[in-house]
Amino acid sequence: MTPTDVVPPPGPAAAQPPPATSPFLSVHDLRVRFRTEDGVVKAVDGLSLALERGRTLGIVGESGSGKSVTALTVLGLHDPRTTEVTGRVLLDGQEVTGAPEPVLERLRGAKAAMVFQDSLTALSPYYTVGRQIAEPYRKHTGASRQAARRRAVEMLDRVGIPHAARRVDDYPHQFSGGMRQRAMIAMALVCDPELLIADEPTTALDVTVQAQILDLLKEHQRETGSAIVLITHDLGVVARTADDVLVMYAGRAVERGTVREVLGDPRHPYTWGLLGSMPRLTTDPDAPLVPVPGAPPSLLAPPPGCPFHPRCAWTGEVPGDRCATERPELPAGRGAACHLPPGRRHPLFIDPPAVPKSIDPAAGPGNIDPAAGPSSIDPPAGPRSIDPPTGPRSEA
Ligand SMILES: Nc1ncnc2c1ncn2[C@@H]1O[C@H](COP(=O)(O)OP(=O)(O)O)[C@@H](O)[C@H]1O
Ligand code: SF4
Ligand SMILES: [Mg+2]
Repeated sequence: MTPTDVVPPPGPAAAQPPPATSPFLSVHDLRVRFRTEDGVVKAVDGLSLALERGRTLGIVGESGSGKSVTALTVLGLHDPRTTEVTGRVLLDGQEVTGAPEPVLERLRGAKAAMVFQDSLTALSPYYTVGRQIAEPYRKHTGASRQAARRRAVEMLDRVGIPHAARRVDDYPHQFSGGMRQRAMIAMALVCDPELLIADEPTTALDVTVQAQILDLLKEHQRETGSAIVLITHDLGVVARTADDVLVMYAGRAVERGTVREVLGDPRHPYTWGLLGSMPRLTTDPDAPLVPVPGAPPSLLAPPPGCPFHPRCAWTGEVPGDRCATERPELPAGRGAACHLPPGRRHPLFIDPPAVPKSIDPAAGPGNIDPAAGPSSIDPPAGPRSIDPPTGPRSEA
């Protein structure tokens, strides 16, 4: 099947076909809705993104912002009985949205693979780790049992499991949390996927293991030229690993740019909030972190206008009631979905200078000090150092 064989699904994206030469992964106006007893959850609401081979896109946002749902939809892993998906997902020119299951099964594993957040639920307790790595390899390559087992040992060794030839016959419960996470990465990488989606792959792991896992992903990327989507709520992980960043809030992309652009010159008040809630090494270690006030909105009934407006301290800077009534659009390329006049954003976010210390502003993201752990990211202080013109409204 080629993209031209595909009838675009209904929805706004159908009127705007992607350009003839799409990037390796392109998502156009993706909308994902769940029908629940309480109503329709708008989990993803008009998301577009693009990713080329060899690059890493970090998707950040608080819990419930639609990151995992986006990832599952890119791999066609949603349940069509309860989920409505519109828009388009194209992977290497192949339509994913609406594709039949056999097509999706061929895509998964060899073309694209996923590392899930929770290795305990992703790995079956009933099969050995080795078998769970070898099976997808056999399925996609037709390798013999022995060859697949050898490959499983090789993969376990590659992801740093000691005594891989022996541990290949262990069950997941015999592995530590860090080892299970590595095993899951081995499972995802066994067919050398061209796209790897890693959904919070290092949450709950200690900083050393986290750094090793991120290094593993980058090493695979260097060797194979794969594209990586790295989902995390941790901007430190993004600074360490990604080339580009997409900040998600309430199922929408609210800011995007390169790592240096978004962390060095953040333009959306929500990004300011995320940065302000991160630990910094260069300031008083006892200084309290400032979480983004309030809670993310219910996606059953997201707020009108800018979805961040009930939590935003800067609505008074925008003339009229646009924040509460008019949805700000995310411009193509670098930008933020916010009504604040571009010239006002920098003065609202200046103290201290908005360049994380571990990022060399004169260089690209590849020059972020790889030895620096996530906690060495020195985000700008953000709005907390300025008296907000209007206090954040309390969440209803
Ligand atoms: N199967 C489902 N049915 C109903 N709602 C869901 C389902 N999966 C996710 N959601 C909702 O969609 C929203 C986005 O979820 P998710 O993508 O998991 O967020 P996160 O950014 O934390 O990964 C949340 O409000 C979540 O409760
Ligand atoms: S559009 Fe208004 S409410 Fe939304 S982030 Fe910008 S200033 Fe805040
Ligand atoms: Mg998630």
